[in-house]
Amino acid sequence: MKQQTQLTRRKFVGGMATSVAAFSIVPSHVLGANPPSSKLNIAVIGSGGRGRANINGCRSENIVALCDVDDIRAARSFEEYPKAKRYKDFRIMMDDMDKSIDAVIVATPDHTHAVAAMRAIKMGKHVYCEKPLAHSLGEVRRLTEAARQQGVQTQMGNQGHSSEQIRRVCEWIWDGAIGDIREVHTWSSRPSGGAAFAVNMKRPTDRPPVPEGLDWDLWLGPAQYRPYHPAYLPFKWRGWLDFGSGALGDMGCHILDPTVWAMKLDQVDTIAIEATTTHFDEEIMNETFAVASIVRFEFPARGSMPPLKLTWSDGRLRPPRPDDMELKRYYRSEGAIFMGEKGNILHGSHGASGARIVPETKMKAYEANLPPKSLPRSQGHHKDWILACKGGKPASANWDFGGPLTELTLLGMLAMRRQNRKLIWDVKTMRITNDEEANKYVDPAYRQGWTL
Ligand SMILES: NC(=O)c1ccc[n+]([C@@H]2O[C@H](COP(=O)([O-])OP(=O)(O)OC[C@H]3O[C@@H](n4cnc5c(N)ncnc54)[C@H](O)[C@@H]3O)[C@@H](O)[C@H]2O)c1
Repeated sequence: MKQQTQLTRRKFVGGMATSVAAFSIVPSHVLGANPPSSKLNIAVIGSGGRGRANINGCRSENIVALCDVDDIRAARSFEEYPKAKRYKDFRIMMDDMDKSIDAVIVATPDHTHAVAAMRAIKMGKHVYCEKPLAHSLGEVRRLTEAARQQGVQTQMGNQGHSSEQIRRVCEWIWDGAIGDIREVHTWSSRPSGGAAFAVNMKRPTDRPPVPEGLDWDLWLGPAQYRPYHPAYLPFKWRGWLDFGSGALGDMGCHILDPTVWAMKLDQVDTIAIEATTTHFDEEIMNETFAVASIVRFEFPARGSMPPLKLTWSDGRLRPPRPDDMELKRYYRSEGAIFMGEKGNILHGSHGASGARIVPETKMKAYEANLPPKSLPRSQGHHKDWILACKGGKPASANWDFGGPLTELTLLGMLAMRRQNRKLIWDVKTMRITNDEEANKYVDPAYRQGWTL
């Protein structure tokens, strides 16, 4: 961090050309049919920010190309991989590096996931894409279908999905540990708290200069044009409707993950959904997410599982406590509680962290007779994807799961645009069947020059 702040934009941009010239890789086709022992050649789109964690997760492989629209944000990755070829425009990178890459990591802000990931898929590259998989329901569905058709290996960046604990929660629930479950509550303190992002704001009207080293037009990608402002990046884009997906899109893929898996919510045909938010000003409502929101989902029965009501709350709103929860136990800033007929399961974010049956007496009693570990275990979130790319079995958060999980969060986002209405979503046709106006949020138009 210290290193990054000491580096000025001017110095860094000036130093770029020489490192690009130092590029050298062994193209993957030289290695033959990519036997399991060979290394993948990986290109990274969005090399700063979260991209760094993904690069770390793939250290065992060859990082051959780094793309980023902001030289400063990506500076540390560039320094760590001086031989990787550098790009600002992923379209140019993909055309240029086509023959030299096997797989692509996408870790840009949400609104550019789909265009970057789709380009890679169409070129037959395996893709690891950050959560939420994309920014609109239409994009998610098309990505999921394209990946399936192309037969490329995928993984979404909901790394908690590879935890031991999320598997235990599924196994407990399927074992009947807390009986039938008709109600689940999930929550996040975002957008409040340490990781605050822009909410409840009008679009800024002043025009600060674009920082040196940042290509603003490429950062915008398919989003409609607007002048640069520091209110948008980095990180803060999460709260702007054109770029981010609010608290639900940001944290939902972590916090709802155990619920979707354990309750088989990726297997339904219809979802009822209703949102309420703290928004009241229409201009603000069309720009940024609200200070706080509640989204209620209703799912029909799935096999022997009864219908389910699922509630998402953000902005520090928390659910009611079950009667049998100990008084000393409190809800952490993020988490979920499954309310079953014989008890509750409470957990935190990312892979059902710290999951316990509540009250503790029931957990202790159940610990004496835990069910066998029936689900396959993960070797690591990035490693599973790498192994899949090399011919192993698909990673567990591949997009057949990551797609429907993301769609749920984006459905919540859509309901916020049409708040205080109960909407019915037909999963197969991707239509809200009882409110035509809501359907305009399913597939928003791209800026001219951009397609999926
Ligand atoms: N899995 C997790 O726990 C986790 C944690 C943080 C972020 N994320 C996800 O990672 C993604 C990035 O989030 P962030 O906070 O790192 O954002 P960020 O604002 O730091 O942007 C990430 C990087 O992408 C670059 N970038 C932006 N647009 C680009 C483009 N069109 N082409 C190439 N590079 C581009 C930025 O310059 C930056 O270096 C988001 O989708 C976010 O939801 C996931």
